[in-house]
Amino acid sequence: MISKEQVLKALSNVDDPDLKKDIVTLGMVENLEIVEKKVQFDLVLTTPACPMKEMLVNACHNAIKYMVDSQAEVLVNATSRVQKNHRDSDALPNVKHLIAIASGKGGVGKSTLSATLALALKETGAKVGLLDADIYGPSVPTLFNVHQSPQMIEKEGKSWMIPIESHGIKLLSIGFMTAPGQAVVWRGPMISSAFRQFINDVEWGELDYLIVDLPPGTGDVQITLSQQAPLTGVVLVTTPQEMALTDARRAVDMFQLDAIKKPIIGVVENMSYFTPDDAPDKKYRIFGEGGGAKIAAEYNLNFLGELPLNPKIMQNADTGVWDFSLPEMLPYMKVAQEIARTVSVMQRQ
Ligand SMILES: Nc1ncnc2c1ncn2[C@@H]1O[C@H](COP(=O)(O)OP(=O)(O)O)[C@@H](O)[C@H]1O
Ligand SMILES: [Mg+2]
Repeated sequence: MISKEQVLKALSNVDDPDLKKDIVTLGMVENLEIVEKKVQFDLVLTTPACPMKEMLVNACHNAIKYMVDSQAEVLVNATSRVQKNHRDSDALPNVKHLIAIASGKGGVGKSTLSATLALALKETGAKVGLLDADIYGPSVPTLFNVHQSPQMIEKEGKSWMIPIESHGIKLLSIGFMTAPGQAVVWRGPMISSAFRQFINDVEWGELDYLIVDLPPGTGDVQITLSQQAPLTGVVLVTTPQEMALTDARRAVDMFQLDAIKKPIIGVVENMSYFTPDDAPDKKYRIFGEGGGAKIAAEYNLNFLGELPLNPKIMQNADTGVWDFSLPEMLPYMKVAQEIARTVSVMQRQ
């Protein structure tokens, strides 16, 4: 007979490498059931995008087979429960993590990363929304090929906006409400009130992650969002060259100001290299090398990975057609997993 005690003792040798504690102490083992040689339990991860899922499942198998019974039939059901971030705000009570994508400079790939991050997290099974906060140059309508106005409903004596769903992601953009190319002139107070609406009057439903695509730089939108919404943290995007780094530093400085003080989840470097189809082993570093890692080191931030310059990605971005089963999406999945993992670790600290 295999006992629960034996199994839990064996599993307490399996450590979560990020949280640096064993999975039993962390409360990740649930619904343990044993019928003769059959051992079955849920392994509850902190994110469905956990990059170590497979490794942990294998470690559980090995621990039970080596330490309890080599004949055991082990069934690990890897699931997840995303924990809500620590917050002092009542806004967005059903959103577990609000993650902003920021940069010092325009054109570095913030919107593309916002979209691919949302898609990648969705692909892992998370519930995801994407708020296009670039009110000066909204990209979400193009990135998802969605050009319609959101519906409004009346509930609890007020009007709620319903996000538009595409690729399983709940989307909202000021671009849904204006004609393409139509310029919107925004003044400070209007930005504040538009944001309050985006945050408080939208029927987002239950979300594990709400991604916010910010405009470039360090303006009213960044400040309003930081002060009015329960941001888990900010992902900073940069390209490798020195010109981009100067602006990236300014953005880091802003989020670290006392009045704002939002955690920086880490730095993603975009357009890091180009690999031609006919030379799959080559990485041409067109814009220089190591800029993102340099900024991360300077400010003691996590480096979340590099993304290649890839014309196929640009094509997807322009047409709003995405397919995560294609090999070109792999670097985006890796960066998304790294972001989700870092958020989980921040949560536990
Ligand atoms: N890794 C990439 N490979 C190829 N094109 C990219 C990549 N990242 C972004 N782009 C393209 O670069 C342009 C700017 O990207 P965008 O995401 O709009 O930047 P931002 O939001 O920072 O202004 C877009 O045309 C986009 O399709
Ligand atoms: Mg953009």
